Amino acid sequence: MTQELTSPSPAPQAPGTGRGPGWWRDAVIYQVYVRSFADSDGDGIGDLRGARERLPYLKDLGVDAVWLTPFYASPQADGGYDVADYRAVDPLFGTLQDADELIRAAHDLGLRVIVDIVPNHTSDRHPWFQDPELARQRYLFRPGKGESGELPPNDWESVFGGPAWTRTDRGDWYLHLFAPEQPDLNWDNPEVHAEFEAIMRFWLDLGVDGFRVDVAHGMIKAPGLPDIGHGAQAQLIGAQVLPFFDQDGVHAIHRAWRRLLDGYGDARGKQVIGVAEAWAPTAERLALYVRPDELHQAFNFQFLNAPWQSDALRSVIDASLAATASVGAPTTWVLSNHDVVRHTTRLGGSLARARAATLLMLALPGSAYLYQGEELGLPEVTDLPDEVRQDPAFFRGGRATGAVGPGTDTESAPDGAAGGQDGFRDGCRVPLPWSGELPPYGFGPGGSWLPQPADWGGLTVAAQTGDPASTLELYRAALELRRRLPGLGDGPMSWAPAPDGVLAFTRPGLLCTVNTLGHDVGLPAPGTPLLSSAPVTVDDATAQLPGDSCTWWAI
Ligand code: GLC
Repeated sequence: MTQELTSPSPAPQAPGTGRGPGWWRDAVIYQVYVRSFADSDGDGIGDLRGARERLPYLKDLGVDAVWLTPFYASPQADGGYDVADYRAVDPLFGTLQDADELIRAAHDLGLRVIVDIVPNHTSDRHPWFQDPELARQRYLFRPGKGESGELPPNDWESVFGGPAWTRTDRGDWYLHLFAPEQPDLNWDNPEVHAEFEAIMRFWLDLGVDGFRVDVAHGMIKAPGLPDIGHGAQAQLIGAQVLPFFDQDGVHAIHRAWRRLLDGYGDARGKQVIGVAEAWAPTAERLALYVRPDELHQAFNFQFLNAPWQSDALRSVIDASLAATASVGAPTTWVLSNHDVVRHTTRLGGSLARARAATLLMLALPGSAYLYQGEELGLPEVTDLPDEVRQDPAFFRGGRATGAVGPGTDTESAPDGAAGGQDGFRDGCRVPLPWSGELPPYGFGPGGSWLPQPADWGGLTVAAQTGDPASTLELYRAALELRRRLPGLGDGPMSWAPAPDGVLAFTRPGLLCTVNTLGHDVGLPAPGTPLLSSAPVTVDDATAQLPGDSCTWWAI
């Protein structure tokens, strides 16, 4: 399928062009999960036009860029991460023209646009997989074991549960680390490399400012596809190098892409970036993805998975900063995304902790990603009926949330919350509430593909706007201060003395305190409060930090 633009014209330029120090080093990037952001046509599924109409909201929120999850032609076996045509927009989400208009509108507002690229696997409906001859060369087919090849070629398990192999009518087996509808590509084939470079150029020509590389740790498999010999492989993902994840060979691919991105950007006086979704066992191994000649950013999932304890947070922050500094890269913080339990719920079902964790993240040096709805303090939805579930892992008896990485903090999460509802990912993907008292809360003129809770009327954008105590206004204020304080994004950081359970550190222009305990802690006031996730009091030069709070102090 080829979609044409009705009025092709030169790609719009990204705001602020040129190499410079790197816009991405301290950028705050907002993840738009397209199908749940805003629906323009009333089919209950968010779309590109809906996202375009809401861009002024994101501008006003104060983010620098948006990352759009896959909107490409797809049977939607895994929320669009099963791509049948990388150059076409799925009719569910609109047209190529809508994508073009969205990119232009974002640039007109000074927002950059990052799109997903899914290189580890395609949809089984992709023309390559549909053609048996091409499929054999471009995917990973192997004969089975056993007398008549009736057993899978090795013991690898799908991240979504069950064997990572499916047998074809012809009797051989193909590898799919995710759903059977997502066959893994054969990256030993140069045609696969060439195709993905061409796809990147296609979207760069449409004006995008970068790519979020899906499963960036997955494309290369260990030679001979050796058995793992461990029956609970999901537990090992992100905990150790596996024959299918975090193989050293993936770095050659990232180096080639960096050359492409730099070459493309240099020729046009702009910087286009790659951000790795890579689950690596250590901060040091993750840093390999952001060496100067590889991708620009890699999500810091170790921070995401850290428990709400001062020592644990401090050591993960130190390890991350040291590892990325050793390769000259900034750290890329993240607390929520479409694969994990929303951090309000994950951090013990506590909005206070979630607000504090966000202020902590936004005070750290580096870039940060926000997931749509976290600025509203949305909780995970944990009571979705089975008949509305869409996460493919739900149907395969797969593992808990963090479907692509290690499990979440089970200790600080309430029963059942650590892995989403029964461990699946639909509960963080419920469509956003924009306004009104009843579902679909302004999400669109129709319904919403997943039911929204009846009590979200107070959480809508409209309800929170202008209320200084709201989470939305907290995010707005933090992002505004981040812009006003030079050096906060990419400048130095030093720890300051603090009582047990409290973190304190200085950044250019401020000192940040985080009280991870459930009760007030008093300490000498370090300055004047600039912003706090909970009301902080200062009396006779003594500050009372509320339990589970974070405060930015002017020093
Ligand atoms: C990534 C995506 C996730 C998807 C998986 C397979 O981890 O974030 O949603 O299921 O890749 O493509």
